[in-house]
Amino acid sequence: MRIDKLLANMGFGSRKEVKSLLKKGVVKRNEEVIKNSSTHVDPANEIIKVMDEVLEYREHIYLMMNKPPGVVSATEDNRDETVIDLLEPEDVVMEPFPVGRLDKDTEGLLLITNDGKLAHQLLSPKKNVGKTYYAKIEGRVTEEDVEKFKLGVTLDDGYETKPGDLCILNRGEISEIELTITEGKFHQVKRMFEAVDKKVIYLKRLSMGTLVLDEDLELGQYRELTDEEYQYLISITNQP
Ligand code: URA
Repeated sequence: MRIDKLLANMGFGSRKEVKSLLKKGVVKRNEEVIKNSSTHVDPANEIIKVMDEVLEYREHIYLMMNKPPGVVSATEDNRDETVIDLLEPEDVVMEPFPVGRLDKDTEGLLLITNDGKLAHQLLSPKKNVGKTYYAKIEGRVTEEDVEKFKLGVTLDDGYETKPGDLCILNRGEISEIELTITEGKFHQVKRMFEAVDKKVIYLKRLSMGTLVLDEDLELGQYRELTDEEYQYLISITNQP
């Protein structure tokens, strides 16, 4: 990786600012001064120092966000605020992206990382990672709906879903439910309820596998994954 890209990624300023830092002769690789911004370095195996401080280089970041409504799960958008706009600049420089999508009006657990390989594996239908949602539904959710979801329902485009595990928490004019599904089709939860003539009026993702939303995170807040949470993700991706 070019030294100027590395330093810019690690928050030492824009490429231009990094160039002038290099010119000052304060950046070293294994004690040798680097002045040329196009020099290639290997931060995993070489000791890079800036003003005699050793750089603690990390290639990847893994963040858990409690996504607020009104914000889109994308890196860029012409109209709406994105989840990346909610991050601190030192995290944005790592170029993270959301793993999968939650609708603009959906809240809850969103993993944000720059680890493309891990994101790809987590989203793979082969990994069967269960995603659990809490929802408020207009109408009375019934045991019949539970049975239908158990078998899989037919969406508006004819797609037959895999089984969903529907648990009724509270039934009434507005019902409250939890639903676990292993797929992530576009608007899947909303469309599964449409398939049984009901409407989702509030949706929040609670968990992905054993990665559970930290309820201490207010809407829009985020934190790094703990080691334990990270190890869990790695264990999923290592499964055959
Ligand atoms: N299903 C939906 O309908 N919307 C989401 O945001 C996530 C799952």
